[in-house]
Amino acid sequence: MNRVEDATIEHSADASNVEDALDAGNYRQAVLDTESATAVAMQNTLLTPRFYTTDYDKLDAIDVTPVREEWDRLIARMQSDPNKGHFKKNSGWDKTDWDAMDPELRAEFTDFLISSCTAEFSGCVLYKEMKRRGKNKDIVELFQLMARDEARHAGFINDALREAGIAVNLGFLTEKKKYTYFQPKFIFYATYLSEKIGYARYITIFRHLQKNPEYRFHPIFKWFEEWCNDEFGHGEAFALLMKTDPKVTSGLNVFWIKFFLTAVYATMYVRDHQRPVFHKALGIDPDWFGHSVFTKTSEISRQVFPLTLDIEHPRWLKSLQALHRANVDLAEAKKNGALFKRIGASARAALAFASLLTIPSIKNEVPAKTRLEPAY
Ligand SMILES: [Fe+2]
Ligand SMILES: [Fe+2]
Repeated sequence: MNRVEDATIEHSADASNVEDALDAGNYRQAVLDTESATAVAMQNTLLTPRFYTTDYDKLDAIDVTPVREEWDRLIARMQSDPNKGHFKKNSGWDKTDWDAMDPELRAEFTDFLISSCTAEFSGCVLYKEMKRRGKNKDIVELFQLMARDEARHAGFINDALREAGIAVNLGFLTEKKKYTYFQPKFIFYATYLSEKIGYARYITIFRHLQKNPEYRFHPIFKWFEEWCNDEFGHGEAFALLMKTDPKVTSGLNVFWIKFFLTAVYATMYVRDHQRPVFHKALGIDPDWFGHSVFTKTSEISRQVFPLTLDIEHPRWLKSLQALHRANVDLAEAKKNGALFKRIGASARAALAFASLLTIPSIKNEVPAKTRLEPAY
């Protein structure tokens, strides 16, 4: 498709590349933002989605020859674009009465949507930048395809938010949000995990609502199955990138992998427990949800990581709960300006995290072939 044709694209769901997606009608509408939503998306705390930048030249230098066969198959599948046109409202989009929604649920659900939208867009910005700066055909192709998907995902969440009178100004975020530098291997660990845990979260919610549709209080959850298949594919790509260089998953890096696994799981646990009303409305117990998502993510990550976390260890759940309580107290102390309480809560949070990190991990023999299919 050429640019002239694409100038008429109404919706990011129908775009073939990231530039056209970001230029589509629904994105132009999103510029009319709500200050409070953009302010939430601008937050940079340990728990909120961040924007990343990396050493693009180093990433561009990756040679995918060692994984060529699997690589070509993955790229061909992404190019075939089974989800083109999917991420927009259709007749299955039931009307949501936002005004009638319980105010607490509305607050937690919009917080969920804003942070999901920010996370999707964060991926889009990182992948698009790699595509822009790269010269390596394989790398550029992959990052273009992933940026396309994330632009569609973020655009769709913004559509849902707009019905509630909220929109995140994504252009503003690109320019003004702080970027955190991570060297490529850390980008691999963090992004691989966020794609795979994103898959596990969405498929767990989707399957639960398939069985218990009475809890589906918003239509967006109907889209989660195809959605998480996109994320699954992105995760596959990062698994292959890590496989091109055995050093990334051996030696001292094994400690970093454990650190990232622990940080990503702990962040999810704490974040989800901040939204009790949202989970209750979905009929989901956040402890059950956490355990189910960690189990799936651990199982999947055995494709590339030489260890998994022992989430059945007696200290695991206790330490997560302690971390959550410390975090609640910390937020409270920050609000009240109570310095000593703040120091105390921070120390407790650090101790709880250390307790998680020192649980012995489970060794894993990584298989020769990486490729997995979404199986949940
Ligand atoms: Fe996404
Ligand atoms: Fe993704």
